[in-house]
Amino acid sequence: MATHKITLLPGDGIGPEVTASVVAILDCSGVDIEWEKYSVGSEALSLFGDPLPQEVLDSILRNKLALKGPVTTPIGTGFQSINVRLRKTLDLYANLRPVRSMPNIKTRYEDIDLIVVRENTEDLYSGLEHEIVPGIVESLKIITERASTRIARFAFEYARTHGRKRITAIHKANIMKLSDGLFLHCFRTVAQDYPNIQADDRIVDNCCMQLVMNPNQFDMLLLENLYGDIVSDLTAGLVGGLGVVGGANIGENGAVFEAVHGSAPDIAGQNKANPLALLQSAVMMLQHIGEMEPARRIQTAIVRVLGAGPELRTHDIGGSGHTTDFTAAVCDALRKGSRAQG
Ligand code: NAI
Repeated sequence: MATHKITLLPGDGIGPEVTASVVAILDCSGVDIEWEKYSVGSEALSLFGDPLPQEVLDSILRNKLALKGPVTTPIGTGFQSINVRLRKTLDLYANLRPVRSMPNIKTRYEDIDLIVVRENTEDLYSGLEHEIVPGIVESLKIITERASTRIARFAFEYARTHGRKRITAIHKANIMKLSDGLFLHCFRTVAQDYPNIQADDRIVDNCCMQLVMNPNQFDMLLLENLYGDIVSDLTAGLVGGLGVVGGANIGENGAVFEAVHGSAPDIAGQNKANPLALLQSAVMMLQHIGEMEPARRIQTAIVRVLGAGPELRTHDIGGSGHTTDFTAAVCDALRKGSRAQG
């Protein structure tokens, strides 16, 4: 089997713990990966004078693939989010977050199966902020026809190729008539090319309430950058929280797979972080590169471990185990699965 070269960005906070776990599990799955590992964020800033060195971008562009842990972004001052910079520089315009109930994780709902698609490159994340006069600042929300059409087409193509039936565009076009109005207009225009996929829309505040009350009424959600950031955390809460939902940032130049969660400084370095979210992202990555069999075996191992008892799962999903307990148990399940097949 060919070796896959993949850029590895462990990040900071819980990043190194969860990436170490996922790298170990991928290794146990037998998939042949050669990692190119780099620092980003404050460590890279102190070592190389840039939180996102050019050699990291070059590596991702060369490999067209990266697995990334979370990176802390200083609040108020300091450097621009490397997450935002990475997505914009590499034009990773589509953020894809499948949100599914997991067996043996107890939540309010048992049968969630939602796909969240978030536009990743513009909106209020364009970083265009300035002080007009002391005490008054302005942040610019940029919405373009090109990016709105491109993300709508990505969502409809995803729906078409993955058998999804309906896409709901989420917006606030009643208030932001021009910006969100344009996003909605592009969605409706693209929808005309996909008559077999139902297309409707919801105002974002109503959508949040509906998601909490009756999430199963939705199939796929399409959102601008900021609404997508917020609503995808909300949807993560429906299936067990930030520790269980994976994601991908996809563009023509490559794909960066990362969990929805951040660097969780409150639990960093304590062997408490749940690596499942990054592991789900890694499973998406394996599917993306056609490694379906190891992806399927890891999914089976996850289900087996989650069903085995609280001592093998982390605190955030009702367990008493540590990061390393879960990791060892998934590796063990993978080895037993291979022996059972062999
Ligand atoms: P967070 O996602 O790091 O943490 C929120 C809560 O969820 C915390 O209580 C944390 O302990 C818990 N949590 C998160 N991931 C978990 C996991 N895998 N296992 C168990 N519990 C988990 O959000 P917060 O605190 O708002 O952000 C912390 C830093 O992370 C900030 O600097 C933020 O900018 C950055 N961030 C980075 C992201 C990325 O690199 N993609 C995404 C989101 C935030």
